[in-house]
Order: sequence, then C-alpha cells, then structure tokens
Amino acid sequence: SNLSMSMTSKYGLFKKGCGPFASEVYRLPFPNPYRPPVGMDADAWIDWCCWNLDNALVAQIDGSALACIVIEPVMGEGGFIPTPAKFLRKIREVCNRTGAVMIADEIQSGSGRTGKMYAIEHSGVVPDLVITAKSLGAGVPVSAVTGRAEIMDAPHLGGVGSTYGGSPLACAAALAVLDVLHEPGFMAQAQTVERVVREVWEPLRTELPIGDIRGIGAMMVVEFVKDTESKEPWMEVIANAVPLAVQRGVLLIRAGLYSNCIRFLPALDIPEDMLREALTAVADAVREAYGKLRESEVVPV
Ligand SMILES: Cc1ncc(COP(=O)(O)O)c(C=O)c1O
Repeated sequence: SNLSMSMTSKYGLFKKGCGPFASEVYRLPFPNPYRPPVGMDADAWIDWCCWNLDNALVAQIDGSALACIVIEPVMGEGGFIPTPAKFLRKIREVCNRTGAVMIADEIQSGSGRTGKMYAIEHSGVVPDLVITAKSLGAGVPVSAVTGRAEIMDAPHLGGVGSTYGGSPLACAAALAVLDVLHEPGFMAQAQTVERVVREVWEPLRTELPIGDIRGIGAMMVVEFVKDTESKEPWMEVIANAVPLAVQRGVLLIRAGLYSNCIRFLPALDIPEDMLREALTAVADAVREAYGKLRESEVVPV
C-alpha cells in the first residue's frame, strides 16, 4: 500500500494523513493527446514524452538503477485516457535496453473491459508483468500478478506471501469469470457499450459543456470544460451532477486529474436499453447542474 500510494499524485483523495512515502518513485509527464502544452499538437506532445523518457534516465535516475516502469494502458483515475501506442512502445524499448521490468497496471482496464482481455493488447506491446483485480472477480475480492516465469519464480518459495493470497474461493471466482469472458462474443460486447455511449453523448456537445468524449470499449469518459478552446476544467458541473444522477437512480464516479470527468464503466453484458436509460438519466443530471450553474454565475455559453 505504501509503494502504491507513493506512485499516485492524487494527495487529497488517497494519501492525505498517510506517509512517509517511498522517495525513489519518479512520475513522468503523460502524453494526454487532449491536453498538449500550449503551442504543441498531440503528435509533438507524444514525441516529447517519448524523448523525455530517455532524458529521465540521465536527469532523474540512471537506467541501471531502474527497477521497473509501471504504466496503465488506459489511465483509470487519471481520466480514462488510452495511452498512446507509441508511448507504450517507447517504454518497452527503454525496458529492453535497461533491463527494467515493464509492468502494465490493468487493474481498471483489464479483464475484458476494453473488448480485449488486456487493454495493452490493442497496442501489440507485450509487458513483463500484468496486474489485474476489480473485474477479475466480478465482485469477489481478488487480484493477480501475472508475468514471465523468470520474474514470477525469482523470489524464494513463500518469499512474497500474504495472508489472503491464493484464497480458494477467490480463485474459483476468478476462474469462473475467465470462463465467461472467453465465451464467444462476450468481450466484443464492449464495442456495443462504446457505440451507445458515443451515440448518446456526441449530439450533446452543442448543448452541454463537453470537452472530450474518449475511451475504448466499456471504459468511456466524458470530460467537462468551461470553454472548449481554453479547455479549462469544470469540476463544479460534475460535483453538482453526481447527486442529481443519484436521485435519478444512477450511481456515478468521477475521474480525471481535475475530477471533471464522468466515467462510464458498465458491465459488459448490460442490456442496451438499460444502458441508454442510465446514460439519458446522467445527461439529464448534467443538464440540470449546468442550467443551475449558468443561472448562479456568469459563465460562457
Ligand atoms: C489502475 C489501478 N491500479 C491500482 C489500483 C489500486 O488497487 P488496490 O486497491 O488493489 O491496491 C486501482 C484502484 O482504483 C486502480 O484503478
């Protein structure tokens, strides 16, 4: 837990009151194509972030002292941003060169949510370790570290143990989930979720303060901004919309560096009419929150 908390930048949400944290964790800029620095387009920004990976091995930590690079193939808390394939390939190259272990954190994006077993499969990059949890147990608490045998077998017998590790109940649940995921056509349902989310939300761009609609499969996000040019994040509209959505029977969770995104992460086999009903309820909640904010303060139309 201490090392995990050391990795996140989200202090108030996760780390407040805890610590001290491990010091030798380096967070590098992430090539979010929606938010390149001023004067750069998305491609230049991705290229800069790739360059900066090499630069960090001089400026921040020597490659020979690097244990691993951890990357989410689709950013979860960070705002459901698919990691550009070029950046994933660059991480692979750096790990090959330095001997560092490439770890794909698929806790949120794995187990079929993007339409493939692991989100990183969309890029063709093969990591050394994959970590999964959440959907893996379909509600039963279970997590897994899966990887190359020489890494998995490196600790001595019992060397990486835990009280609950290998719980027979959790393993049975995960095996049952894997069976369901591999049923023909099951994971492909993620594409239906993506299509429906886009169908409902794209037309609302002209009416609601939407900056971006993005994601892969059943891992979709709508990002809200005060102004589509400046892209200034608008967290209040979401903070106000969440309780209004709850009143309409839909539980929501925010996401994004600025907590200005609504994430949609429904079950892969959610019936289409139920999904549409839920998305419409959320849109109504955002419409109401937006309307009230516009009444109470002078905001751009
Ligand atoms: C991508 C990702 N990694 C790790 C975690 C934390 O996992 P755990 O609760 O098993 O420490 C989360 C939790 O939301 C997550 O989304």
